[in-house]
Amino acid sequence: MQQPKQKMPKPYNPHDRLMLKAKREGYRARSVYKLIDLNHRFHLLRPGQKVLDLGAAPGSWLQYVGSQIGSGGLAIGVDMQPITAIAPNIKTFSADIMDSAKLEEILIQNGPALYDLILSDLAPSTTGIIGVDHYKSIELSRKATEIAVGRLETRGSLVIKIFPGEHFNDFFQGLKKQYRKVNAVKVGASRDRSREIYIVCTEKKAINLNT
Ligand SMILES: C[S@@+](CC[C@H](N)C(=O)[O-])C[C@H]1O[C@@H](n2cnc3c(N)ncnc32)[C@H](O)[C@@H]1O
Repeated sequence: MQQPKQKMPKPYNPHDRLMLKAKREGYRARSVYKLIDLNHRFHLLRPGQKVLDLGAAPGSWLQYVGSQIGSGGLAIGVDMQPITAIAPNIKTFSADIMDSAKLEEILIQNGPALYDLILSDLAPSTTGIIGVDHYKSIELSRKATEIAVGRLETRGSLVIKIFPGEHFNDFFQGLKKQYRKVNAVKVGASRDRSREIYIVCTEKKAINLNT
């Protein structure tokens, strides 16, 4: 019997449409169009906001965030990779976000106590083994969620990129206890071969019900 044909992912293309568009528009990465899409759908960014961006290098999300929050706002970006300076309303730091002591030191010394919005575009270095990549992604996502427990304003929003897999449902249900609205969405700008999903949590509840 003839096997159904598998849809092969498109090969990596350094000249893809969004990469060229990002270059033309002065953004550091094509991933900016994922955040723009999410912002259009969920109205996440406003002038004057305080924003924490986890996994922020090379900085395209920060570029867009900076343009939306304006000079009255402040964005803090953290990544293991260095991020070159962007704008006066954006501060960037190199750190592993899994190193809680180091991260806290950076945030205490340089940021506000609480943020209106926390973004996590954190991505582990992938192995191509779906279960392993999912597990690493869940670990980073749990950390982002934990940071938001202490650092996100009540009614604030959290966006997390995740590679789905067996722990996704538990993780998603856990977020529903902490936020009034939780949506899992695909964005148009994700590459065809990417399995990534963004979880958009809005209206953080006043009391963190971890049960
Ligand atoms: C997809 S990139 C982020 C792109 C970014 N949103 C932009 O628009 O420029 C994911 C980033 O997560 C960072 N990352 C992964 N694990 C990390 C960790 N434990 N601590 C800090 N950064 C991490 C990587 O270094 C990488 O730069």
